[in-house]
Amino acid sequence: MTAATTSSAWDQARLALWSRPHLERVEQALSGWVGVDSPVLLGEAMRYAVLDGGKRLRPLLVLAASEAVGGNAAAALRAACATELIHAYSLVHDDLPCMDNDVLRRGKPTVHVKFGEADALLAGDALQALAFELLTPDGDEVPPAMQATLCRMLARAAGSQGMAGGQAIDLASVGVALNEAQLREMHRLKTGALLQGSVEMGAACGTGVSAAALAALRGYGAAIGLAFQVVDDILDVTADSQTLGKTAGKDAAADKPTYVSLLGLEGARAQASQLLDDALAALDASGLNDTAALRALAHMVVARDR
Ligand code: IPE
Ligand code: IPE
Ligand code: MG
Ligand code: MG
Ligand code: MG
Repeated sequence: MTAATTSSAWDQARLALWSRPHLERVEQALSGWVGVDSPVLLGEAMRYAVLDGGKRLRPLLVLAASEAVGGNAAAALRAACATELIHAYSLVHDDLPCMDNDVLRRGKPTVHVKFGEADALLAGDALQALAFELLTPDGDEVPPAMQATLCRMLARAAGSQGMAGGQAIDLASVGVALNEAQLREMHRLKTGALLQGSVEMGAACGTGVSAAALAALRGYGAAIGLAFQVVDDILDVTADSQTLGKTAGKDAAADKPTYVSLLGLEGARAQASQLLDDALAALDASGLNDTAALRALAHMVVARDR
Protein backbone atom coordinates (compact mmCIF):
# COMPACT_ATOMS: atom_id res chain seq x y z
CA MET A 1 0.00 0.00 0.00
CA THR A 2 1.33 3.45 -0.85
CA ALA A 3 1.14 6.53 1.34
CA ALA A 4 -1.44 7.85 -1.08
CA THR A 5 -3.87 5.16 -0.02
CA THR A 6 -3.16 5.19 3.72
CA SER A 7 -4.87 7.82 5.80
CA SER A 8 -3.11 11.09 6.46
CA ALA A 9 -1.76 11.67 9.96
CA TRP A 10 -4.04 14.63 9.92
CA ASP A 11 -7.27 14.04 8.07
CA GLN A 12 -8.69 16.67 5.80
CA ALA A 13 -11.18 17.81 8.43
CA ARG A 14 -8.31 18.70 10.75
CA LEU A 15 -6.56 20.40 7.86
CA ALA A 16 -9.66 22.53 7.33
CA LEU A 17 -9.63 23.46 11.03
CA TRP A 18 -5.93 24.33 10.92
CA SER A 19 -6.34 26.29 7.67
CA ARG A 20 -9.32 28.44 8.62
CA PRO A 21 -7.60 31.07 10.81
CA HIS A 22 -4.59 31.13 8.49
CA LEU A 23 -6.79 31.72 5.46
CA GLU A 24 -8.64 34.48 7.27
CA ARG A 25 -5.37 36.26 8.08
CA VAL A 26 -4.17 35.90 4.50
CA GLU A 27 -7.45 37.19 3.03
CA GLN A 28 -7.48 40.14 5.39
CA ALA A 29 -3.86 41.00 4.68
CA LEU A 30 -4.29 40.71 0.91
CA SER A 31 -7.40 42.85 1.02
CA GLY A 32 -5.49 45.54 2.91
CA TRP A 33 -2.53 45.48 0.53
CA VAL A 34 -3.72 44.77 -3.01
CA GLY A 35 -4.64 47.58 -5.37
CA VAL A 36 -4.78 50.18 -2.63
CA ASP A 37 -4.03 53.78 -3.73
CA SER A 38 -3.76 52.65 -7.35
CA PRO A 39 -5.36 54.27 -10.40
CA VAL A 40 -8.95 53.09 -10.28
CA LEU A 41 -9.14 50.58 -13.11
CA LEU A 42 -5.73 49.07 -12.39
CA GLY A 43 -6.50 48.72 -8.67
CA GLU A 44 -9.83 47.09 -9.47
CA ALA A 45 -8.20 44.65 -11.88
CA MET A 46 -5.57 43.72 -9.26
CA ARG A 47 -8.20 43.11 -6.59
CA TYR A 48 -10.36 41.15 -9.03
CA ALA A 49 -7.39 38.91 -9.86
CA VAL A 50 -6.44 38.20 -6.26
CA LEU A 51 -9.42 38.43 -3.91
CA ASP A 52 -12.37 36.06 -3.48
CA GLY A 53 -11.00 32.97 -5.08
CA GLY A 54 -8.33 30.34 -5.28
CA LYS A 55 -7.33 27.57 -2.95
CA ARG A 56 -4.48 29.64 -1.44
CA LEU A 57 -2.24 26.58 -1.47
CA ARG A 58 1.00 28.57 -1.74
CA PRO A 59 0.24 30.76 1.31
CA LEU A 60 -0.75 27.67 3.30
CA LEU A 61 2.54 25.99 2.38
CA VAL A 62 4.50 29.06 3.53
CA LEU A 63 2.64 29.19 6.82
CA ALA A 64 2.86 25.43 7.46
CA ALA A 65 6.60 25.36 6.71
CA SER A 66 7.18 28.39 8.89
CA GLU A 67 5.30 26.76 11.78
CA ALA A 68 7.33 23.57 11.32
CA VAL A 69 10.52 25.55 11.95
CA GLY A 70 9.13 27.97 14.54
CA GLY A 71 9.42 30.87 12.11
CA ASN A 72 8.83 34.64 12.42
CA ALA A 73 5.03 34.96 12.04
CA ALA A 74 5.07 38.49 10.59
CA ALA A 75 7.60 37.47 7.95
CA ALA A 76 5.62 34.33 7.17
CA LEU A 77 2.38 36.26 6.61
CA ARG A 78 4.16 38.62 4.23
CA ALA A 79 5.82 35.72 2.42
CA ALA A 80 2.50 33.88 2.20
CA CYS A 81 0.84 36.87 0.55
CA ALA A 82 3.82 37.46 -1.73
CA THR A 83 3.66 33.92 -3.13
CA GLU A 84 -0.05 34.31 -3.80
CA LEU A 85 0.54 37.60 -5.63
CA ILE A 86 3.12 36.01 -7.92
CA HIS A 87 0.74 33.10 -8.49
CA ALA A 88 -2.21 35.38 -9.23
CA TYR A 89 -0.10 37.41 -11.65
CA SER A 90 1.02 34.21 -13.39
CA LEU A 91 -2.63 33.19 -13.84
CA VAL A 92 -3.62 36.58 -15.29
CA HIS A 93 -0.84 36.34 -17.86
CA ASP A 94 -1.35 32.59 -18.45
CA ASP A 95 -4.96 33.30 -19.46
CA LEU A 96 -4.12 36.07 -21.97
CA PRO A 97 -4.92 35.46 -25.64
CA CYS A 98 -1.17 35.34 -26.41
CA MET A 99 -0.78 32.44 -23.96
CA ASP A 100 -3.63 29.98 -23.13
CA ASN A 101 -6.44 32.30 -24.24
CA ASP A 102 -8.82 31.35 -21.43
CA VAL A 103 -12.06 33.13 -20.56
CA LEU A 104 -12.86 31.52 -17.17
CA ARG A 105 -10.74 31.60 -14.01
CA ARG A 106 -11.75 30.96 -10.41
CA GLY A 107 -15.35 30.77 -11.58
CA LYS A 108 -15.30 34.28 -13.08
CA PRO A 109 -14.46 35.83 -16.46
CA THR A 110 -10.69 36.16 -16.76
CA VAL A 111 -9.09 39.52 -16.02
CA HIS A 112 -8.53 40.43 -19.68
CA VAL A 113 -12.12 39.56 -20.55
CA LYS A 114 -13.36 41.84 -17.78
CA PHE A 115 -10.80 44.69 -17.97
CA GLY A 116 -9.14 44.38 -21.37
CA GLU A 117 -5.73 43.02 -22.29
CA ALA A 118 -3.70 46.11 -21.45
CA ASP A 119 -5.02 46.37 -17.91
CA ALA A 120 -4.63 42.61 -17.43
CA LEU A 121 -0.99 42.90 -18.46
CA LEU A 122 -0.45 45.84 -16.12
CA ALA A 123 -2.33 44.19 -13.24
CA GLY A 124 0.03 41.22 -13.54
CA ASP A 125 3.06 43.51 -13.62
CA ALA A 126 1.85 45.44 -10.59
CA LEU A 127 1.04 42.29 -8.59
CA GLN A 128 4.55 41.01 -9.19
CA ALA A 129 6.05 44.28 -8.00
CA LEU A 130 3.79 44.37 -4.94
CA ALA A 131 4.98 40.89 -3.95
CA PHE A 132 8.51 42.18 -3.50
CA GLU A 133 7.33 45.35 -1.77
CA LEU A 134 5.56 43.19 0.83
CA LEU A 135 8.78 41.32 1.52
CA THR A 136 10.72 44.49 2.29
CA PRO A 137 8.88 46.40 5.02
CA ASP A 138 10.37 49.30 6.95
CA GLY A 139 11.05 48.80 10.64
CA ASP A 140 12.30 45.74 12.49
CA GLU A 141 9.39 43.37 11.89
CA VAL A 142 11.49 41.33 9.41
CA PRO A 143 15.29 41.38 9.82
CA PRO A 144 17.08 42.73 6.70
CA ALA A 145 18.94 39.50 6.02
CA MET A 146 15.67 37.54 6.11
CA GLN A 147 14.09 40.08 3.74
CA ALA A 148 16.93 39.60 1.27
CA THR A 149 16.71 35.80 1.46
CA LEU A 150 12.96 35.82 0.91
CA CYS A 151 13.30 38.18 -2.08
CA ARG A 152 16.00 36.04 -3.66
CA MET A 153 13.97 32.85 -3.21
CA LEU A 154 10.84 34.40 -4.69
CA ALA A 155 12.72 35.95 -7.60
CA ARG A 156 14.30 32.58 -8.39
CA ALA A 157 10.96 30.79 -8.23
CA ALA A 158 9.23 33.32 -10.46
CA GLY A 159 11.89 34.08 -13.04
CA SER A 160 13.51 32.46 -16.03
CA GLN A 161 14.86 29.60 -13.89
CA GLY A 162 11.37 29.09 -12.46
CA MET A 163 7.80 29.91 -13.44
CA ALA A 164 8.50 32.24 -16.37
CA GLY A 165 11.04 29.81 -17.79
CA GLY A 166 8.56 26.95 -17.50
CA GLN A 167 5.85 28.99 -19.19
CA ALA A 168 8.23 29.68 -22.08
CA ILE A 169 8.87 25.95 -22.47
CA ASP A 170 5.11 25.32 -22.28
CA LEU A 171 4.41 27.75 -25.12
CA ALA A 172 7.21 26.32 -27.22
CA SER A 173 5.91 22.77 -26.68
CA VAL A 174 2.48 23.04 -28.30
CA GLY A 175 2.11 20.06 -30.59
CA VAL A 176 5.49 18.69 -29.51
CA ALA A 177 5.76 15.16 -28.09
CA LEU A 178 8.01 15.74 -25.07
CA ASN A 179 9.60 12.74 -23.41
CA GLU A 180 9.09 12.22 -19.70
CA ALA A 181 12.28 13.98 -18.64
CA GLN A 182 11.39 17.04 -20.74
CA LEU A 183 7.84 17.12 -19.46
CA ARG A 184 9.01 16.81 -15.85
CA GLU A 185 11.41 19.70 -16.37
CA MET A 186 8.66 21.89 -17.86
CA HIS A 187 6.29 21.13 -14.97
CA ARG A 188 9.02 21.52 -12.38
CA LEU A 189 9.67 25.02 -13.64
CA LYS A 190 6.25 26.36 -14.55
CA THR A 191 4.46 25.16 -11.42
CA GLY A 192 6.83 23.26 -9.14
CA ALA A 193 9.28 26.10 -8.62
CA LEU A 194 6.79 28.46 -6.95
CA LEU A 195 5.32 25.71 -4.78
CA GLN A 196 8.78 24.54 -3.72
CA GLY A 197 9.74 28.18 -3.25
CA SER A 198 6.73 28.66 -0.98
CA VAL A 199 7.93 25.84 1.28
CA GLU A 200 11.49 27.18 1.25
CA MET A 201 10.32 30.71 2.04
CA GLY A 202 8.34 29.41 5.00
CA ALA A 203 11.45 27.61 6.22
CA ALA A 204 13.51 30.78 5.69
CA CYS A 205 11.27 32.57 8.22
CA GLY A 206 12.96 30.44 10.88
CA THR A 207 16.44 30.86 12.27
CA GLY A 208 18.93 28.13 13.18
CA VAL A 209 17.11 25.52 11.11
CA SER A 210 19.38 22.51 10.47
CA ALA A 211 20.77 21.94 6.98
CA ALA A 212 19.17 18.48 7.03
CA ALA A 213 15.73 19.91 7.76
CA LEU A 214 16.10 22.53 5.02
CA ALA A 215 17.15 19.88 2.51
CA ALA A 216 14.22 17.68 3.50
CA LEU A 217 11.78 20.56 3.10
CA ARG A 218 13.27 21.31 -0.31
CA GLY A 219 12.70 17.70 -1.30
CA TYR A 220 9.16 17.82 0.03
CA GLY A 221 8.48 21.02 -1.93
CA ALA A 222 9.92 19.61 -5.15
CA ALA A 223 7.77 16.49 -4.89
CA ILE A 224 4.48 18.23 -4.15
CA GLY A 225 5.28 20.97 -6.66
CA LEU A 226 5.55 18.45 -9.47
CA ALA A 227 2.63 16.41 -8.14
CA PHE A 228 0.48 19.53 -8.22
CA GLN A 229 0.92 20.02 -11.98
CA VAL A 230 0.49 16.29 -12.68
CA VAL A 231 -2.87 16.50 -10.89
CA ASP A 232 -3.70 19.72 -12.77
CA ASP A 233 -3.14 17.76 -16.01
CA ILE A 234 -5.40 14.95 -14.73
CA LEU A 235 -8.17 17.31 -13.62
CA ASP A 236 -8.12 19.04 -17.01
CA VAL A 237 -9.33 15.70 -18.41
CA THR A 238 -11.50 14.32 -15.60
CA ALA A 239 -13.21 17.34 -14.00
CA ASP A 240 -15.85 19.71 -15.33
CA SER A 241 -15.45 23.45 -15.82
CA GLN A 242 -17.87 24.37 -13.06
CA THR A 243 -15.97 22.35 -10.44
CA LEU A 244 -12.60 23.62 -11.65
CA GLY A 245 -13.71 27.24 -12.06
CA LYS A 246 -11.72 27.21 -15.32
CA THR A 247 -12.34 25.66 -18.72
CA ALA A 248 -11.81 21.90 -18.64
CA GLY A 249 -10.37 20.01 -21.59
CA LYS A 250 -8.11 22.86 -22.66
CA ASP A 251 -4.86 20.91 -22.78
CA ALA A 252 -5.98 18.40 -25.39
CA ALA A 253 -7.80 21.13 -27.34
CA ALA A 254 -4.62 23.23 -27.43
CA ASP A 255 -2.41 20.19 -28.14
CA LYS A 256 -0.30 20.65 -25.00
CA PRO A 257 1.93 17.82 -23.84
CA THR A 258 0.78 16.69 -20.37
CA TYR A 259 1.28 13.75 -18.02
CA VAL A 260 -2.04 12.39 -19.27
CA SER A 261 -1.11 12.68 -22.95
CA LEU A 262 2.23 11.01 -22.23
CA LEU A 263 1.33 8.31 -19.70
CA GLY A 264 -2.46 8.03 -19.84
CA LEU A 265 -4.73 8.68 -16.87
CA GLU A 266 -3.63 5.67 -14.82
CA GLY A 267 0.02 6.36 -15.49
CA ALA A 268 -0.40 9.99 -14.45
CA ARG A 269 -2.24 8.95 -11.27
CA ALA A 270 0.56 6.52 -10.43
CA GLN A 271 3.08 9.36 -10.85
CA ALA A 272 1.12 11.62 -8.51
CA SER A 273 0.89 8.85 -5.94
CA GLN A 274 4.63 8.16 -6.15
CA LEU A 275 5.36 11.87 -5.70
CA LEU A 276 3.13 11.93 -2.60
CA ASP A 277 5.14 9.05 -1.18
CA ASP A 278 8.34 10.97 -1.95
CA ALA A 279 7.01 14.11 -0.24
CA LEU A 280 5.99 12.23 2.91
CA ALA A 281 9.31 10.37 3.02
CA ALA A 282 11.13 13.70 2.85
CA LEU A 283 9.14 14.98 5.84
CA ASP A 284 9.93 11.79 7.76
CA ALA A 285 13.63 12.46 7.15
CA SER A 286 13.42 16.11 8.19
CA GLY A 287 13.83 15.56 11.92
CA LEU A 288 11.12 18.22 12.44
CA ASN A 289 8.33 17.50 14.94
CA ASP A 290 5.54 19.71 13.72
CA THR A 291 4.94 18.54 10.14
CA ALA A 292 1.29 17.44 10.39
CA ALA A 293 -0.03 20.37 8.35
CA LEU A 294 2.59 19.84 5.65
CA ARG A 295 1.65 16.16 5.48
CA ALA A 296 -2.04 16.96 5.17
CA LEU A 297 -1.35 19.57 2.49
CA ALA A 298 0.58 16.97 0.48
CA HIS A 299 -2.40 14.62 0.65
CA MET A 300 -4.67 17.47 -0.37
CA VAL A 301 -2.53 18.30 -3.42
CA VAL A 302 -2.91 14.77 -4.74
CA ALA A 303 -6.49 14.01 -3.66
CA ARG A 304 -8.04 17.36 -4.66
CA ASP A 305 -10.91 17.55 -7.12
CA ARG A 306 -10.39 21.16 -8.21
C1 IPE B 1 -3.57 26.70 -11.15
O1 IPE B 1 -3.16 26.80 -9.83
C2 IPE B 1 -2.45 26.92 -12.08
C3 IPE B 1 -1.35 25.99 -11.91
C4 IPE B 1 -0.21 26.35 -11.46
C5 IPE B 1 -1.52 24.61 -12.29
P1 IPE B 1 -4.17 26.57 -8.65
O2 IPE B 1 -4.97 25.31 -8.89
O3 IPE B 1 -3.44 26.66 -7.35
O4 IPE B 1 -5.15 27.81 -8.80
P2 IPE B 1 -6.03 28.58 -7.72
O5 IPE B 1 -5.11 29.51 -7.02
O6 IPE B 1 -6.64 27.56 -6.77
O7 IPE B 1 -7.06 29.30 -8.53
C1 IPE C 1 -0.12 27.25 -15.64
O1 IPE C 1 -0.32 25.97 -16.09
C2 IPE C 1 1.01 27.39 -14.77
C3 IPE C 1 1.23 28.82 -14.46
C4 IPE C 1 2.41 29.23 -14.24
C5 IPE C 1 0.12 29.77 -14.39
P1 IPE C 1 -1.70 25.77 -16.79
O2 IPE C 1 -1.85 26.62 -17.99
O3 IPE C 1 -1.94 24.31 -16.93
O4 IPE C 1 -2.70 26.32 -15.64
P2 IPE C 1 -4.27 26.38 -15.79
O5 IPE C 1 -4.72 24.97 -16.07
O6 IPE C 1 -4.57 27.36 -16.87
O7 IPE C 1 -4.72 26.83 -14.42
MG1 MG D 1 -0.60 27.55 -19.35
MG1 MG E 1 -3.57 27.82 -18.55
MG1 MG F 1 -3.74 23.27 -16.53
